[in-house]
Amino acid sequence: MTDYKTLASQAEELLREEPWAPSVLSNLSALIMQTLPELNWAGFYLVRGGRLTVGPFQGNPACIHIAAGKGVCGTAWQQDRTQVVPDVHLFPGHIACDGASASEIVVPIHRNGLVAAVLDLDSPRKERFGEKDREGLEALVRVLEKRIVWE
Ligand code: SME
Repeated sequence: MTDYKTLASQAEELLREEPWAPSVLSNLSALIMQTLPELNWAGFYLVRGGRLTVGPFQGNPACIHIAAGKGVCGTAWQQDRTQVVPDVHLFPGHIACDGASASEIVVPIHRNGLVAAVLDLDSPRKERFGEKDREGLEALVRVLEKRIVWE
């Protein structure tokens, strides 16, 4: 069971030291990859020029651009709602960046009330992400939203 409270405190620590997005998102993707078991990709897509563009991450090289409403990430952005996908092969329009991915969770990140980025985690195990993960990751994102400096 992941200790999301500790993860959130570690994120606060990172943000205190350096709130600039490239630094904090890089270290946070590494921290998530080390802390959560059974992940094959952990990282961020940022809204830029009307589409999502890949940002700091850990894992295999990934798709660079994702349009609004496309894939799990584009859906989370468009609907402004966390997507928990137990089996990516059953998700219409899923974008397969890494063939090993079997399940996924994507959490929207806000700036001034609008989605500015998404946190995307992939697992090679089906049904890897449950309600506890959704709650823990949404709480982590709230911590991030409070202090991150985007520019
Ligand atoms: N599977 C995602 C694409 C990004 S990769 O998982 C890193 C999607 O369907 O949006």
